[in-house]
Amino acid sequence: MTPPKPLLSLAVFISGRGSNLQSLIDACAGEDFPARIALVFSNKDGVQGLERAAKAGIPTRTLSHKGFESREDYDRAVLEILAEYPIDLVCLAGFMRIVTPVLITPWAGRMINIHPSLLPDYKGLDTHARVLADGRNQHGCTVHYVVPEMDAGPAIVQKTVPILPGDTPEILAGRVLEQEHIAYPEAVRRIAEGTAPPFPK
Ligand code: GRF
Repeated sequence: MTPPKPLLSLAVFISGRGSNLQSLIDACAGEDFPARIALVFSNKDGVQGLERAAKAGIPTRTLSHKGFESREDYDRAVLEILAEYPIDLVCLAGFMRIVTPVLITPWAGRMINIHPSLLPDYKGLDTHARVLADGRNQHGCTVHYVVPEMDAGPAIVQKTVPILPGDTPEILAGRVLEQEHIAYPEAVRRIAEGTAPPFPK
């Protein structure tokens, strides 16, 4: 019999609500899910995502970016925190900070993000309003590898939703978010099982 593969150990980075974190917490509670969360990291104190982690008994760390002279200095401090935990994969899940190569390079191919659009379309913020303003008929979300250029890394999983008459940015955001909660665990599973698209060398 082949021995079971070790579970993929995750750090999940958040800044707020943490509903994508919750989808990963729920997935990891499943017996056949090939990952566990070893750390939830936040750049903001007191956010809902930290409560979700605490409720699930997951270690949390918070480090405010305030007081750091540069993004690079902050990212160096985050790297040091990561080094304290046995992490295989960093999952940015609503982490509302631009990360620099200081943090990305050592984790290249082992850091992923979820973005609420069908990348490469609609990088950046306010995707739902922009998609509606352009009169598109579909939208969605992408889990992708993180590279130094924002929202530009190769896609791992994408989910598409229709745009319906009467949609507002809020209604559309809700429809996309439901798919985000499916896409993120699916991407983690594919990485753990070795079926995700490889990160280009
Ligand atoms: C999600 O829409 C995610 O795609 C984007 O920020 C939002 C975070 O939501 N990057 P939550 O904190 O996971 O609820």
